[in-house]
Amino acid sequence: MNPIFKILPLIIFYAGIALAQKPAEPAGCRIQVFVDQPGPVISKNIYGHFAEHLGHCIYDGIWVGKDSKIPNTDGIRNDVVKALRDMKIPNLRWPGGCFADTYHWKDGIGPAAERPSIINTFWGGVTEDNSFGTHEFMELIDLLGCDPYITGNLGSGTVQEMAQWVEYLTSDNKSPMTYLRRKNGREKAWKVKYLGVGNENWGCGGNMTPEYYSNEFRRYSNYLNNYSGNQLNRVACGPNSDDYKWTETLMKDDGARWAMQGLSLHFYTVPDGWDKKGSATSFTEKNWIRSFATTLHMDDLITRHSAIMDRYDPEKRIFLAVDEWGAWYDVEPGTNPGFLYQQNSLRDALIAAINLNIFNKHCDRVKMANLAQTVNVLQAVILTDKEKIVLTPTYYIFKMMAVHQDARLLSSNIKCEQYKLDTDSIPSISYSVSKSADGKIHLTVANLFAARGQKISCEINGLKINKITGEILSSNRITDCNTFEKPDVVVPKSYTDFKTNKNTLELQIPAKSFVVIEIE
Ligand code: AHR
Repeated sequence: MNPIFKILPLIIFYAGIALAQKPAEPAGCRIQVFVDQPGPVISKNIYGHFAEHLGHCIYDGIWVGKDSKIPNTDGIRNDVVKALRDMKIPNLRWPGGCFADTYHWKDGIGPAAERPSIINTFWGGVTEDNSFGTHEFMELIDLLGCDPYITGNLGSGTVQEMAQWVEYLTSDNKSPMTYLRRKNGREKAWKVKYLGVGNENWGCGGNMTPEYYSNEFRRYSNYLNNYSGNQLNRVACGPNSDDYKWTETLMKDDGARWAMQGLSLHFYTVPDGWDKKGSATSFTEKNWIRSFATTLHMDDLITRHSAIMDRYDPEKRIFLAVDEWGAWYDVEPGTNPGFLYQQNSLRDALIAAINLNIFNKHCDRVKMANLAQTVNVLQAVILTDKEKIVLTPTYYIFKMMAVHQDARLLSSNIKCEQYKLDTDSIPSISYSVSKSADGKIHLTVANLFAARGQKISCEINGLKINKITGEILSSNRITDCNTFEKPDVVVPKSYTDFKTNKNTLELQIPAKSFVVIEIE
Protein backbone atom coordinates (compact mmCIF):
# COMPACT_ATOMS: atom_id res chain seq x y z
CA MET A 1 0.00 0.00 0.00
CA ASN A 2 1.31 3.43 -0.95
CA PRO A 3 2.50 4.94 2.38
CA ILE A 4 0.75 8.19 1.49
CA PHE A 5 -2.62 6.46 2.03
CA LYS A 6 -1.55 5.49 5.53
CA ILE A 7 -0.98 9.09 6.57
CA LEU A 8 -3.84 10.57 4.50
CA PRO A 9 -6.32 10.59 7.43
CA LEU A 10 -3.72 12.47 9.50
CA ILE A 11 -3.16 15.01 6.70
CA ILE A 12 -6.92 15.57 6.42
CA PHE A 13 -7.26 15.87 10.21
CA TYR A 14 -4.48 18.47 10.57
CA ALA A 15 -5.59 20.39 7.47
CA GLY A 16 -9.05 20.62 9.08
CA ILE A 17 -7.56 22.02 12.28
CA ALA A 18 -5.46 24.51 10.30
CA LEU A 19 -8.50 25.69 8.34
CA ALA A 20 -10.58 26.00 11.50
CA GLN A 21 -7.88 28.14 13.12
CA LYS A 22 -7.35 30.47 10.17
CA PRO A 23 -9.01 33.83 10.89
CA ALA A 24 -12.17 34.25 8.85
CA GLU A 25 -11.62 36.31 5.71
CA PRO A 26 -13.59 39.52 5.86
CA ALA A 27 -16.92 38.71 4.25
CA GLY A 28 -16.97 42.15 2.60
CA CYS A 29 -19.70 44.68 2.69
CA ARG A 30 -22.50 45.56 0.28
CA ILE A 31 -24.14 48.95 -0.10
CA GLN A 32 -27.06 49.61 -2.46
CA VAL A 33 -27.83 53.18 -3.49
CA PHE A 34 -31.00 54.29 -5.27
CA VAL A 35 -30.26 57.43 -7.22
CA ASP A 36 -33.84 57.82 -8.39
CA GLN A 37 -35.11 57.95 -4.78
CA PRO A 38 -33.86 61.31 -3.51
CA GLY A 39 -34.89 62.07 0.04
CA PRO A 40 -34.93 65.30 2.06
CA VAL A 41 -32.26 67.98 1.82
CA ILE A 42 -29.30 67.63 4.19
CA SER A 43 -29.23 71.14 5.64
CA LYS A 44 -25.79 72.67 5.47
CA ASN A 45 -26.42 73.75 9.08
CA ILE A 46 -25.81 70.17 10.23
CA TYR A 47 -22.13 71.09 9.67
CA GLY A 48 -22.25 73.94 12.21
CA HIS A 49 -19.86 74.86 15.02
CA PHE A 50 -19.88 76.28 18.52
CA ALA A 51 -17.58 78.87 20.13
CA GLU A 52 -17.94 79.63 23.83
CA HIS A 53 -16.13 81.99 26.15
CA LEU A 54 -14.28 78.99 27.54
CA GLY A 55 -10.52 78.50 27.89
CA HIS A 56 -8.73 79.57 24.71
CA CYS A 57 -11.61 79.20 22.28
CA ILE A 58 -12.55 82.87 21.89
CA TYR A 59 -9.53 84.53 23.53
CA ASP A 60 -6.28 83.57 21.70
CA GLY A 61 -8.12 81.03 19.55
CA ILE A 62 -10.28 83.45 17.58
CA TRP A 63 -9.70 86.86 19.11
CA VAL A 64 -6.19 88.24 19.61
CA GLY A 65 -7.03 91.96 19.68
CA LYS A 66 -6.16 94.62 17.15
CA ASP A 67 -2.65 95.24 18.52
CA SER A 68 -1.54 91.61 18.29
CA LYS A 69 1.45 90.64 16.12
CA ILE A 70 -0.59 87.68 14.95
CA PRO A 71 -2.10 88.70 11.59
CA ASN A 72 -5.68 89.76 12.27
CA THR A 73 -8.62 91.73 10.96
CA ASP A 74 -9.89 94.10 13.63
CA GLY A 75 -8.60 91.67 16.29
CA ILE A 76 -9.85 88.42 14.68
CA ARG A 77 -7.19 85.87 13.62
CA ASN A 78 -6.85 85.68 9.82
CA ASP A 79 -5.50 82.11 9.84
CA VAL A 80 -8.50 80.82 11.79
CA VAL A 81 -10.96 82.67 9.55
CA LYS A 82 -9.32 81.24 6.43
CA ALA A 83 -9.36 77.68 7.80
CA LEU A 84 -13.02 77.90 8.80
CA ARG A 85 -14.01 79.40 5.45
CA ASP A 86 -12.12 76.64 3.61
CA MET A 87 -14.05 74.11 5.70
CA LYS A 88 -17.32 75.81 4.61
CA ILE A 89 -18.55 76.62 8.10
CA PRO A 90 -22.30 77.30 7.73
CA ASN A 91 -23.11 78.74 11.17
CA LEU A 92 -21.48 79.51 14.50
CA ARG A 93 -23.14 79.26 17.93
CA TRP A 94 -22.06 81.83 20.56
CA PRO A 95 -21.45 82.89 23.41
CA GLY A 96 -22.15 79.56 25.18
CA GLY A 97 -22.85 76.99 26.54
CA CYS A 98 -23.11 77.44 30.25
CA PHE A 99 -21.45 80.84 29.84
CA ALA A 100 -24.49 82.11 27.92
CA ASP A 101 -26.77 81.98 30.96
CA THR A 102 -24.31 84.17 32.89
CA TYR A 103 -23.67 86.60 30.04
CA HIS A 104 -25.15 90.09 30.02
CA TRP A 105 -24.73 91.36 26.48
CA LYS A 106 -24.58 95.04 27.40
CA ASP A 107 -21.24 94.30 29.15
CA GLY A 108 -19.81 93.54 25.70
CA ILE A 109 -20.67 96.68 23.70
CA GLY A 110 -19.25 100.21 23.52
CA PRO A 111 -15.61 101.30 23.81
CA ALA A 112 -13.56 98.26 24.90
CA ALA A 113 -11.76 100.18 27.65
CA GLU A 114 -15.08 101.02 29.28
CA ARG A 115 -16.46 97.49 29.28
CA PRO A 116 -16.71 95.89 32.72
CA SER A 117 -14.69 92.82 33.62
CA ILE A 118 -16.53 89.83 35.00
CA ILE A 119 -15.57 86.43 36.37
CA ASN A 120 -16.19 83.46 34.11
CA THR A 121 -17.63 81.35 36.91
CA PHE A 122 -18.18 78.18 34.90
CA TRP A 123 -14.87 77.99 33.13
CA GLY A 124 -11.76 78.35 35.26
CA GLY A 125 -12.92 81.37 37.29
CA VAL A 126 -10.83 83.61 35.04
CA THR A 127 -11.43 87.30 34.41
CA GLU A 128 -13.38 88.04 31.26
CA ASP A 129 -12.72 91.58 30.05
CA ASN A 130 -15.56 91.54 27.51
CA SER A 131 -13.29 92.75 24.72
CA PHE A 132 -15.03 90.23 22.46
CA GLY A 133 -18.72 91.12 22.42
CA THR A 134 -21.66 91.49 20.06
CA HIS A 135 -19.99 93.69 17.41
CA GLU A 136 -16.85 91.55 17.36
CA PHE A 137 -18.90 88.36 17.03
CA MET A 138 -20.99 89.79 14.20
CA GLU A 139 -17.82 90.93 12.42
CA LEU A 140 -16.47 87.38 12.77
CA ILE A 141 -19.70 86.13 11.20
CA ASP A 142 -19.24 88.55 8.29
CA LEU A 143 -15.65 87.40 7.79
CA LEU A 144 -16.72 83.75 7.88
CA GLY A 145 -19.71 84.35 5.60
CA CYS A 146 -21.89 82.15 7.79
CA ASP A 147 -25.05 82.47 9.92
CA PRO A 148 -24.95 83.56 13.55
CA TYR A 149 -26.60 81.37 16.17
CA ILE A 150 -26.85 83.46 19.33
CA THR A 151 -27.77 81.97 22.69
CA GLY A 152 -29.63 84.32 25.02
CA ASN A 153 -29.47 84.35 28.80
CA LEU A 154 -32.64 82.87 30.26
CA GLY A 155 -31.04 81.44 33.40
CA SER A 156 -29.85 84.64 35.08
CA GLY A 157 -31.09 87.32 32.68
CA THR A 158 -34.45 88.92 32.07
CA VAL A 159 -37.03 88.92 29.33
CA GLN A 160 -36.30 92.59 28.74
CA GLU A 161 -32.58 91.94 28.36
CA MET A 162 -33.03 89.20 25.77
CA ALA A 163 -35.73 91.13 23.90
CA GLN A 164 -33.50 94.21 23.74
CA TRP A 165 -30.58 92.17 22.42
CA VAL A 166 -32.75 90.98 19.53
CA GLU A 167 -33.86 94.57 18.89
CA TYR A 168 -30.27 95.89 19.08
CA LEU A 169 -29.11 93.27 16.59
CA THR A 170 -31.93 93.16 14.08
CA SER A 171 -34.06 96.31 14.09
CA ASP A 172 -33.74 99.16 11.61
CA ASN A 173 -36.42 101.22 13.36
CA LYS A 174 -35.73 104.24 15.52
CA SER A 175 -35.55 103.14 19.15
CA PRO A 176 -33.24 103.45 22.15
CA MET A 177 -31.63 100.10 21.27
CA THR A 178 -31.01 100.93 17.64
CA TYR A 179 -29.69 104.35 18.63
CA LEU A 180 -27.24 102.63 20.97
CA ARG A 181 -26.10 100.30 18.18
CA ARG A 182 -25.54 103.23 15.83
CA LYS A 183 -23.64 105.07 18.54
CA ASN A 184 -21.42 102.00 18.81
CA GLY A 185 -20.58 102.20 15.13
CA ARG A 186 -23.08 99.96 13.35
CA GLU A 187 -25.66 101.71 11.24
CA LYS A 188 -27.47 98.81 9.62
CA ALA A 189 -29.19 96.01 11.49
CA TRP A 190 -27.68 92.55 11.17
CA LYS A 191 -29.61 89.43 10.25
CA VAL A 192 -29.83 86.81 13.00
CA LYS A 193 -31.30 83.53 11.84
CA TYR A 194 -31.04 81.45 15.04
CA LEU A 195 -31.64 82.39 18.65
CA GLY A 196 -31.23 79.89 21.48
CA VAL A 197 -33.63 80.74 24.30
CA GLY A 198 -31.28 79.66 27.09
CA ASN A 199 -28.87 76.75 27.24
CA GLU A 200 -29.05 73.54 29.27
CA ASN A 201 -31.72 75.08 31.50
CA TRP A 202 -32.16 71.63 33.07
CA GLY A 203 -28.61 72.08 34.43
CA CYS A 204 -26.12 74.96 34.31
CA GLY A 205 -28.78 77.25 32.80
CA GLY A 206 -30.91 77.42 35.94
CA ASN A 207 -31.62 73.84 37.13
CA MET A 208 -35.21 74.06 35.92
CA THR A 209 -37.87 71.39 35.62
CA PRO A 210 -39.23 70.88 32.10
CA GLU A 211 -42.61 72.34 33.14
CA TYR A 212 -40.96 75.48 34.52
CA TYR A 213 -38.70 75.92 31.49
CA SER A 214 -41.62 75.38 29.12
CA ASN A 215 -43.48 78.29 30.75
CA GLU A 216 -40.38 80.45 30.71
CA PHE A 217 -39.79 79.67 27.05
CA ARG A 218 -43.35 80.78 26.21
CA ARG A 219 -42.93 83.99 28.15
CA TYR A 220 -39.54 84.89 26.64
CA SER A 221 -40.53 83.97 23.10
CA ASN A 222 -43.51 86.29 23.30
CA TYR A 223 -41.13 89.26 23.27
CA LEU A 224 -38.49 87.98 20.83
CA ASN A 225 -39.71 89.83 17.78
CA ASN A 226 -39.02 89.68 14.08
CA TYR A 227 -37.81 93.17 13.14
CA SER A 228 -37.10 94.73 9.76
CA GLY A 229 -37.55 91.55 7.72
CA ASN A 230 -35.43 89.38 10.01
CA GLN A 231 -36.89 85.90 10.64
CA LEU A 232 -35.75 84.47 13.96
CA ASN A 233 -35.67 80.73 14.48
CA ARG A 234 -36.23 80.38 18.21
CA VAL A 235 -34.45 77.28 19.48
CA ALA A 236 -35.85 75.99 22.76
CA CYS A 237 -33.55 74.28 25.22
CA GLY A 238 -34.02 70.59 24.59
CA PRO A 239 -33.11 67.45 26.49
CA ASN A 240 -29.90 66.23 27.97
CA SER A 241 -29.22 63.02 26.03
CA ASP A 242 -31.98 60.52 26.91
CA ASP A 243 -34.26 62.74 28.99
CA TYR A 244 -37.38 61.90 26.99
CA LYS A 245 -39.64 63.48 29.60
CA TRP A 246 -38.10 66.87 28.81
CA THR A 247 -38.93 66.53 25.11
CA GLU A 248 -42.44 65.24 25.82
CA THR A 249 -43.19 68.11 28.23
CA LEU A 250 -42.10 70.81 25.81
CA MET A 251 -43.72 69.26 22.77
CA LYS A 252 -47.09 68.69 24.38
CA ASP A 253 -47.25 72.29 25.62
CA ASP A 254 -49.23 74.00 22.81
CA GLY A 255 -47.88 77.46 23.66
CA ALA A 256 -44.25 76.37 23.72
CA ARG A 257 -44.64 74.25 20.61
CA TRP A 258 -46.10 77.11 18.58
CA ALA A 259 -43.39 79.50 19.72
CA MET A 260 -40.46 77.28 18.78
CA GLN A 261 -38.87 76.67 15.42
CA GLY A 262 -36.19 74.37 16.84
CA LEU A 263 -35.52 72.15 19.83
CA SER A 264 -31.96 71.39 20.90
CA LEU A 265 -30.36 68.11 21.98
CA HIS A 266 -27.00 67.72 23.72
CA PHE A 267 -25.05 64.49 23.71
CA TYR A 268 -21.31 64.02 24.16
CA THR A 269 -19.15 60.96 23.48
CA VAL A 270 -17.67 60.23 26.91
CA PRO A 271 -16.42 56.69 26.32
CA ASP A 272 -15.47 55.74 29.87
CA GLY A 273 -17.98 57.85 31.83
CA TRP A 274 -17.76 61.30 33.41
CA ASP A 275 -15.64 60.27 36.41
CA LYS A 276 -12.59 59.12 34.46
CA LYS A 277 -13.02 60.25 30.92
CA GLY A 278 -9.66 58.93 29.68
CA SER A 279 -6.89 60.38 27.57
CA ALA A 280 -7.41 61.91 24.13
CA THR A 281 -4.15 60.46 22.85
CA SER A 282 -3.18 57.42 24.86
CA PHE A 283 -5.74 54.67 24.38
CA THR A 284 -6.18 51.08 23.28
CA GLU A 285 -8.36 49.32 20.72
CA LYS A 286 -10.83 48.66 23.55
CA ASN A 287 -11.20 52.45 24.08
CA TRP A 288 -11.39 52.90 20.31
CA ILE A 289 -14.39 50.62 19.79
CA ARG A 290 -15.99 51.82 23.08
CA SER A 291 -15.83 55.39 21.75
CA PHE A 292 -17.63 54.41 18.56
CA ALA A 293 -20.21 52.32 20.43
CA THR A 294 -20.92 55.36 22.64
CA THR A 295 -21.12 57.67 19.64
CA LEU A 296 -23.59 55.38 17.88
CA HIS A 297 -26.03 56.01 20.74
CA MET A 298 -26.65 59.34 18.97
CA ASP A 299 -28.71 57.41 16.42
CA ASP A 300 -31.02 55.95 19.11
CA LEU A 301 -31.38 59.34 20.78
CA ILE A 302 -32.38 61.11 17.59
CA THR A 303 -34.75 58.29 16.65
CA ARG A 304 -36.52 58.34 20.01
CA HIS A 305 -36.67 62.13 20.46
CA SER A 306 -37.89 62.43 16.84
CA ALA A 307 -40.62 59.87 17.52
CA ILE A 308 -41.91 62.08 20.37
CA MET A 309 -41.70 65.15 18.14
CA ASP A 310 -43.53 63.28 15.35
CA ARG A 311 -46.53 62.77 17.62
CA TYR A 312 -46.98 66.51 18.22
CA ASP A 313 -45.45 67.84 15.01
CA PRO A 314 -46.04 65.29 12.24
CA GLU A 315 -45.37 67.93 9.55
CA LYS A 316 -41.84 68.31 10.96
CA ARG A 317 -42.18 72.08 11.26
CA ILE A 318 -39.87 72.06 14.29
CA PHE A 319 -36.29 71.02 13.69
CA LEU A 320 -34.01 69.18 16.07
CA ALA A 321 -30.73 71.04 16.64
CA VAL A 322 -27.99 68.81 18.05
CA ASP A 323 -26.26 72.00 19.10
CA GLU A 324 -23.61 70.36 21.29
CA TRP A 325 -21.90 67.12 20.36
CA GLY A 326 -18.39 65.70 20.26
CA ALA A 327 -15.84 63.71 22.24
CA TRP A 328 -15.01 64.79 25.77
CA TYR A 329 -11.81 63.43 27.38
CA ASP A 330 -9.52 64.39 30.27
CA VAL A 331 -7.74 67.69 29.66
CA GLU A 332 -4.16 67.53 28.40
CA PRO A 333 -1.75 67.08 31.32
CA GLY A 334 -0.59 70.38 32.79
CA THR A 335 -3.44 72.46 31.35
CA ASN A 336 -6.16 74.28 33.31
CA PRO A 337 -8.93 71.73 34.05
CA GLY A 338 -11.51 74.50 33.54
CA PHE A 339 -10.31 75.12 29.97
CA LEU A 340 -11.24 71.71 28.51
CA TYR A 341 -8.22 71.61 26.19
CA GLN A 342 -7.72 68.20 24.55
CA GLN A 343 -5.77 66.82 21.58
CA ASN A 344 -7.58 65.27 18.65
CA SER A 345 -6.68 61.97 16.99
CA LEU A 346 -7.76 59.72 14.15
CA ARG A 347 -10.32 58.31 16.62
CA ASP A 348 -11.96 61.76 16.79
CA ALA A 349 -12.05 62.00 13.02
CA LEU A 350 -14.06 58.78 12.87
CA ILE A 351 -16.30 59.90 15.76
CA ALA A 352 -17.08 63.02 13.73
CA ALA A 353 -17.74 60.95 10.60
CA ILE A 354 -20.12 58.64 12.49
CA ASN A 355 -22.06 61.59 13.94
CA LEU A 356 -22.28 63.47 10.64
CA ASN A 357 -23.40 60.31 8.80
CA ILE A 358 -26.10 59.87 11.48
CA PHE A 359 -27.26 63.50 11.16
CA ASN A 360 -27.38 63.14 7.37
CA LYS A 361 -29.61 60.11 7.67
CA HIS A 362 -31.96 61.97 10.04
CA CYS A 363 -32.01 65.14 7.92
CA ASP A 364 -35.81 65.14 7.80
CA ARG A 365 -35.79 66.23 11.47
CA VAL A 366 -32.20 67.24 12.26
CA LYS A 367 -31.58 70.54 10.49
CA MET A 368 -28.80 71.88 12.64
CA ALA A 369 -25.87 70.53 14.65
CA ASN A 370 -22.89 72.19 16.30
CA LEU A 371 -19.62 70.52 17.18
CA ALA A 372 -18.22 71.46 20.59
CA GLN A 373 -16.03 73.44 20.14
CA THR A 374 -14.35 75.27 17.26
CA VAL A 375 -10.88 76.17 18.59
CA ASN A 376 -8.84 74.79 21.53
CA VAL A 377 -11.80 73.32 23.43
CA LEU A 378 -13.06 69.68 23.48
CA GLN A 379 -13.25 68.15 19.96
CA ALA A 380 -11.78 71.22 18.28
CA VAL A 381 -11.25 71.52 14.55
CA ILE A 382 -8.38 73.96 15.16
CA LEU A 383 -5.68 74.15 17.84
CA THR A 384 -3.59 77.27 18.32
CA ASP A 385 -0.51 78.14 20.35
CA LYS A 386 0.28 81.84 20.13
CA GLU A 387 0.96 82.39 16.41
CA LYS A 388 0.96 78.65 15.58
CA ILE A 389 -2.07 76.84 14.25
CA VAL A 390 -2.82 73.20 13.53
CA LEU A 391 -5.82 71.65 11.80
CA THR A 392 -7.03 68.51 13.55
CA PRO A 393 -8.16 65.21 11.97
CA THR A 394 -11.73 66.28 12.84
CA TYR A 395 -11.22 69.42 10.72
CA TYR A 396 -10.51 67.29 7.68
CA ILE A 397 -13.66 65.21 8.18
CA PHE A 398 -15.75 68.41 8.11
CA LYS A 399 -13.94 69.57 5.01
CA MET A 400 -14.32 66.24 3.21
CA MET A 401 -17.98 65.85 4.20
CA ALA A 402 -18.94 69.39 3.18
CA VAL A 403 -20.00 67.85 -0.16
CA HIS A 404 -23.23 66.79 1.58
CA GLN A 405 -24.18 70.37 2.52
CA ASP A 406 -27.61 71.13 0.99
CA ALA A 407 -27.50 67.93 -1.10
CA ARG A 408 -30.37 65.43 -1.13
CA LEU A 409 -30.03 62.31 0.96
CA LEU A 410 -30.28 59.21 -1.24
CA SER A 411 -32.14 56.10 -0.27
CA SER A 412 -29.70 53.25 0.44
CA ASN A 413 -29.10 50.11 2.46
CA ILE A 414 -26.10 48.19 3.76
CA LYS A 415 -25.06 44.70 4.77
CA CYS A 416 -21.79 44.60 6.62
CA GLU A 417 -19.93 42.71 9.29
CA GLN A 418 -20.13 43.53 12.96
CA TYR A 419 -16.95 44.74 14.65
CA LYS A 420 -16.71 42.91 17.98
CA LEU A 421 -14.33 43.26 20.87
CA ASP A 422 -15.04 42.13 24.41
CA THR A 423 -18.56 43.32 25.20
CA ASP A 424 -18.81 45.78 22.30
CA SER A 425 -20.37 44.90 18.97
CA ILE A 426 -20.94 47.65 16.39
CA PRO A 427 -21.45 47.83 12.62
CA SER A 428 -17.98 47.96 11.10
CA ILE A 429 -19.03 50.60 8.55
CA SER A 430 -20.57 54.05 8.94
CA TYR A 431 -21.75 55.73 5.75
CA SER A 432 -24.17 58.09 4.03
CA VAL A 433 -24.79 59.07 0.43
CA SER A 434 -26.29 62.14 -1.21
CA LYS A 435 -26.88 63.82 -4.56
CA SER A 436 -25.93 67.46 -4.96
CA ALA A 437 -27.75 70.04 -7.07
CA ASP A 438 -25.24 69.55 -9.92
CA GLY A 439 -26.13 65.83 -10.10
CA LYS A 440 -22.95 64.48 -8.46
CA ILE A 441 -23.26 61.58 -6.01
CA HIS A 442 -21.16 61.61 -2.85
CA LEU A 443 -20.55 58.60 -0.66
CA THR A 444 -18.81 59.07 2.69
CA VAL A 445 -17.74 55.86 4.36
CA ALA A 446 -15.69 55.01 7.44
CA ASN A 447 -14.15 51.59 8.09
CA LEU A 448 -14.15 51.38 11.88
CA PHE A 449 -12.03 48.21 12.15
CA ALA A 450 -8.78 49.15 13.85
CA ALA A 451 -6.74 46.55 11.95
CA ARG A 452 -8.74 45.12 9.05
CA GLY A 453 -9.28 46.47 5.58
CA GLN A 454 -12.64 45.87 3.95
CA LYS A 455 -13.90 45.37 0.45
CA ILE A 456 -17.08 47.29 -0.18
CA SER A 457 -19.24 46.56 -3.14
CA CYS A 458 -21.43 49.56 -3.83
CA GLU A 459 -24.27 49.17 -6.31
CA ILE A 460 -25.43 52.49 -7.71
CA ASN A 461 -28.90 51.96 -9.15
CA GLY A 462 -30.17 54.49 -11.64
CA LEU A 463 -26.87 55.99 -12.77
CA LYS A 464 -24.33 55.28 -15.48
CA ILE A 465 -20.99 55.80 -13.79
CA ASN A 466 -18.76 58.09 -15.87
CA LYS A 467 -16.12 59.40 -13.55
CA ILE A 468 -15.03 58.66 -10.00
CA THR A 469 -12.66 60.53 -7.74
CA GLY A 470 -11.85 59.94 -4.10
CA GLU A 471 -9.99 61.13 -1.01
CA ILE A 472 -8.95 59.19 2.07
CA LEU A 473 -8.13 60.16 5.66
CA SER A 474 -6.18 57.58 7.65
CA SER A 475 -2.91 57.08 9.48
CA ASN A 476 -0.52 54.42 10.75
CA ARG A 477 -1.76 54.32 14.33
CA ILE A 478 -5.20 54.78 15.82
CA THR A 479 -3.74 57.36 18.23
CA ASP A 480 -2.11 59.53 15.54
CA CYS A 481 -2.62 63.30 15.89
CA ASN A 482 -1.53 66.49 14.18
CA THR A 483 0.76 68.53 16.42
CA PHE A 484 2.41 71.96 16.12
CA GLU A 485 5.69 70.14 15.39
CA LYS A 486 4.14 67.63 12.96
CA PRO A 487 0.93 69.18 11.61
CA ASP A 488 0.53 66.82 8.62
CA VAL A 489 0.34 63.35 10.16
CA VAL A 490 -3.39 62.87 9.55
CA VAL A 491 -4.29 64.70 6.35
CA PRO A 492 -6.43 63.74 3.34
CA LYS A 493 -4.76 62.01 0.42
CA SER A 494 -5.94 61.03 -2.99
CA TYR A 495 -7.77 57.67 -3.01
CA THR A 496 -7.73 55.41 -6.07
CA ASP A 497 -8.21 51.89 -4.70
CA PHE A 498 -11.47 51.25 -6.53
CA LYS A 499 -12.74 49.73 -9.75
CA THR A 500 -16.08 49.76 -11.49
CA ASN A 501 -18.11 46.97 -12.98
CA LYS A 502 -21.17 48.32 -14.80
CA ASN A 503 -23.09 50.16 -12.08
CA THR A 504 -21.12 48.59 -9.22
CA LEU A 505 -18.21 50.24 -7.54
CA GLU A 506 -15.70 47.99 -5.76
CA LEU A 507 -13.86 49.84 -3.02
CA GLN A 508 -10.95 48.50 -0.99
CA ILE A 509 -10.96 50.53 2.21
CA PRO A 510 -8.01 50.19 4.58
CA ALA A 511 -8.42 49.70 8.31
CA LYS A 512 -9.23 52.79 10.44
CA SER A 513 -9.96 55.08 7.55
CA PHE A 514 -12.51 57.44 6.10
CA VAL A 515 -13.14 57.80 2.38
CA VAL A 516 -15.18 60.24 0.31
CA ILE A 517 -16.12 59.25 -3.21
CA GLU A 518 -17.51 61.53 -5.91
CA ILE A 519 -19.41 59.83 -8.70
CA GLU A 520 -20.45 61.59 -11.91
O1 AHR B 1 -19.23 72.55 25.71
C1 AHR B 1 -18.93 72.65 27.06
C2 AHR B 1 -20.17 72.73 27.93
O2 AHR B 1 -20.87 71.53 27.85
C3 AHR B 1 -21.18 73.78 27.56
O3 AHR B 1 -20.88 75.01 28.09
C4 AHR B 1 -22.43 73.25 28.18
O4 AHR B 1 -23.59 73.68 27.51
C5 AHR B 1 -22.24 71.74 28.14
O5 AHR B 1 -22.53 71.16 29.35
